[in-house]
Amino acid sequence: MSPRSLVLGLGLALLAGCGEQRPSFEPEKVNAAPLGKGLPRGFLLGASTASHQVEGGNENDWARWERASFPDGTPHIHDRSVSGPATDSWNRFDEDVKLMKRLGSNAYRFSVEWSRLEPTPGAWDSEAAARYRQWAQALRAQGIEPLVTLYHFTLPTWVAESGGWENPATLDAFERFAGRVADLLGGEVDWWCTINEPNVLAVFGYMDGVWPPGKKDTKAMATVLAHLIEAHARAARQLRTHDLVDADGDGKATLVGLAHHVRVFQPASGSTTDIAVAGLTDEFFNESVPNALRTGRISLSVPGSVSLRREVPGLKGSLDYFGLNYYSRDHVRQDASPSFSHKYVPAGYDTNDLGWELYPEGLYLLLKRYAAFGLPLVVTENGMDDRSGERRPYYLRSHLYAVEQAVAAGADVRGYFHWSLIDNFEWAEGYAPRFGLFRVDRSSPELVRQDTPAVETFREAARNLGLTPTP
Ligand code: GAL
Repeated sequence: MSPRSLVLGLGLALLAGCGEQRPSFEPEKVNAAPLGKGLPRGFLLGASTASHQVEGGNENDWARWERASFPDGTPHIHDRSVSGPATDSWNRFDEDVKLMKRLGSNAYRFSVEWSRLEPTPGAWDSEAAARYRQWAQALRAQGIEPLVTLYHFTLPTWVAESGGWENPATLDAFERFAGRVADLLGGEVDWWCTINEPNVLAVFGYMDGVWPPGKKDTKAMATVLAHLIEAHARAARQLRTHDLVDADGDGKATLVGLAHHVRVFQPASGSTTDIAVAGLTDEFFNESVPNALRTGRISLSVPGSVSLRREVPGLKGSLDYFGLNYYSRDHVRQDASPSFSHKYVPAGYDTNDLGWELYPEGLYLLLKRYAAFGLPLVVTENGMDDRSGERRPYYLRSHLYAVEQAVAAGADVRGYFHWSLIDNFEWAEGYAPRFGLFRVDRSSPELVRQDTPAVETFREAARNLGLTPTP
């Protein structure tokens, strides 16, 4: 345990305790606040999706993983589903745009699927390319700002087979891909997200082994995390040199960001070890990526196994905004596992249907923390698995309230994207979770989309922001 981690842990404990004046998150306060009135002019209010989770019919490293099992026979996907047709958004994009209009949203975050655009090394599928271009044009024509993610967890099989993110050659291939996507969509797109959640991919894919490629190897995890950070820097350079068109006329042709998954790590007790382990976890999971982006230098350490430091050319200054994906808080107790910690939600806390704690105040705390970055912030994801749909209205209200409180406290937050527009394929959880503002009836051949009660809450926020939802 380094003295730095101890100090950080103690700092966090202080933050979680007394000290500064914090807004009240009592439900009466949240419900009484005029939803969306505290958001700044030009704020992007929308929903978020990712290619593999909605398009349907993708063949990539995930599709393969879905069909296979762990050595003991347990299927990789908890509910035994495969993504298959997903929500068929590849063919139903126009329907989805109508949903966005119904929400009154003025922005949409989606990702392009590398395996569709470049199905074999160096090839380029012009039909798929034309389709993505039509989408970007359709969104712009409807007054919806596209925010395009280049990489959201799925690799073409040819990339995965040649070592995926462990292989430095993947960085070259990804850099070329980024340049081509910028050429393709730059005329319509200004807001870009290079990589979604490098920390989640590294931990799930290479430490916990629950996502492809299913490794449990801390050194590989660190290599991959470093490569993803480097891939971001290289993609940012491509986006800035290839996309010179200011599509929305605000004076900026490219706004480059990365979507970073952040969580609150709450020491489970006042003991020095729990505080220190929560601090260590926070430092590794929340801070490694932003620290590298801030300084231009990757510095990763896992006591006893990893110590990786290197300067990355072009990393410093590679961001125009910082994207935060926020869902939940973990309570952390020290233990003897490889991560030194046991993360859990104590009994009696409010959770979503996957057991993740609902903690809107965490979004406020983390927005305030990352405001110190000195860059505009965008909430690139936030949402809950709510299978009844009844609890999402309050979730949405309380998290938008958190954004507004952070804005009132001086944070420069430019957008909020709800996860998700529609129920979709939730990775290792399959189709059981329901994160959509719109419910998808999977038993209907047309995969009918239906309003959940949170649609009305979203529309209220949109109207208060001066937007006009369609009836
Ligand atoms: C995020 C991920 C999304 C979505 C969401 C809810 O970590 O970026 O793709 O799956 O979690 O589970």
